[in-house]
Amino acid sequence: MCEIAKLILGSETYEFPIVVGTENERAIDIRPLRAQTGHITLDSGFMNTGSCESEITFINGEKGILRYRGIPLDQLADQSSFIETSYLLLNGNLPSPTELSKITQDIANQGEIPEQMKKMLQHFPQDAHPMAVLGSMINALAGFYQEVVPGSNEDVISEATSRLIAVTSTIAAHSYKHSIGEEFVAPSSEPGYSENFLKMMFSSPDREYSPDPDMVKALEMLLIMHADHEQNCSASSVRLVGSSQPSLYAAITAGIAALWGPLHGGANQAVMEMLAQIHKSGKEPEAFIDMAKDKSNNFRLSGFGHRVYKNYDPRARIIKNICMDILKKESVSDPLLDIAVKLEAQVLNDDYFIKRKLYPNVDFYSGLLYKAMGIPTDMFTVLFAIGRMPGWIAQWKEMINTPGIKIGRPRQVYTGNNETNYIPMQERHI
Ligand code: ACO
Repeated sequence: MCEIAKLILGSETYEFPIVVGTENERAIDIRPLRAQTGHITLDSGFMNTGSCESEITFINGEKGILRYRGIPLDQLADQSSFIETSYLLLNGNLPSPTELSKITQDIANQGEIPEQMKKMLQHFPQDAHPMAVLGSMINALAGFYQEVVPGSNEDVISEATSRLIAVTSTIAAHSYKHSIGEEFVAPSSEPGYSENFLKMMFSSPDREYSPDPDMVKALEMLLIMHADHEQNCSASSVRLVGSSQPSLYAAITAGIAALWGPLHGGANQAVMEMLAQIHKSGKEPEAFIDMAKDKSNNFRLSGFGHRVYKNYDPRARIIKNICMDILKKESVSDPLLDIAVKLEAQVLNDDYFIKRKLYPNVDFYSGLLYKAMGIPTDMFTVLFAIGRMPGWIAQWKEMINTPGIKIGRPRQVYTGNNETNYIPMQERHI
């Protein structure tokens, strides 16, 4: 029998069913609330609001657990590839060898962008932020390819999915090449997603770049770790925009815009800038920790804290280990890594952060790894977007396939003027 939550409003009692997820997450189903009671709920920032039921990703923020389709992230990071993990997110199960080689080849075949799009890209200022370029280019795909909307044929959706995963890395690499005034390097139609991306970034017409296999593996792991994270700001943006049924490309563009901000994916760039600032100042990290604790100051320690994790972000732990291994293997000493390790140790022992359960998040160490790969700081959030692409598409697919799905349209509690008459200009006393 379904459990019930009771709400007492004045003299009336209303009953609402409790929905229980497969991991025993519990929610009060308030869908009939307004019709029955005339009230809405108020929950700015959606701290307590479940926007959907989802089978894709499970997070337990208290225990630091993250699983895609039930499989723990560390197993995927160790044993899977980015394309296989993408298949898992998109389809709900691991692929057979034939399915894996098909999706791998489909993605490898779709890497080229139309000539007109290359020209568009070349018209951006050289110092344009690569997230601005990426968002514009992904939206532009809607002008070049067949419409992909709820109700589109499965094959059309599948082709658009491969295209989006493929061209995100091409656009990223081309925007980098444009920023440094070099010619674009064409994507290869050979399988090897991460290797292909690094070649597009660092090869030049007269020199084929050959990426270090350990760097390729590290990049694959980073992309896997960014591939989905349930109903975060960008995935929710994809769902919200997608719910009005524009093209898939437009919905994904909304995700890219949401990811860009420094409170979300933009934090990886902000972390590196913060570490560089600490280094340049010559001060100890304590000075910055004190600044973050000072409520009269807006400064926050980038890379710490998370809406869901009230424990160490499992992604941060894995990324920190890869980062240490890679820098050790390369015999590279990065003063910013030393500052990061010191800062983290101090934060984890500081009452302010302990009390608020603020731990390093995915963005704290990822930038150091991107830097070790030679990727410039303003490209870090683009790397996040490359990784997140299969997750956004999986969230969109799940949403459009949910029976009875409605347009996302929150309500509000109006607190403005009551009805007031228009005053002609000559009668206004200003
Ligand atoms: N530095 C200092 N104080 C912090 C930090 C931080 N990084 N993060 C949270 N706090 C404090 C807040 O000031 C607040 O203190 P108070 O209770 O005294 O008012 C308390 O911790 C709770 O913070 P909220 O902002 O209410 O938490 P929320 O869940 O809304 O925000 C967020 C989460 C945005 C990630 C926040 O922790 C933050 O701004 N972190 C820094 C930016 C960052 O690293 N973002 C990346 C997140 S991971 C991702 O999106 C991929």
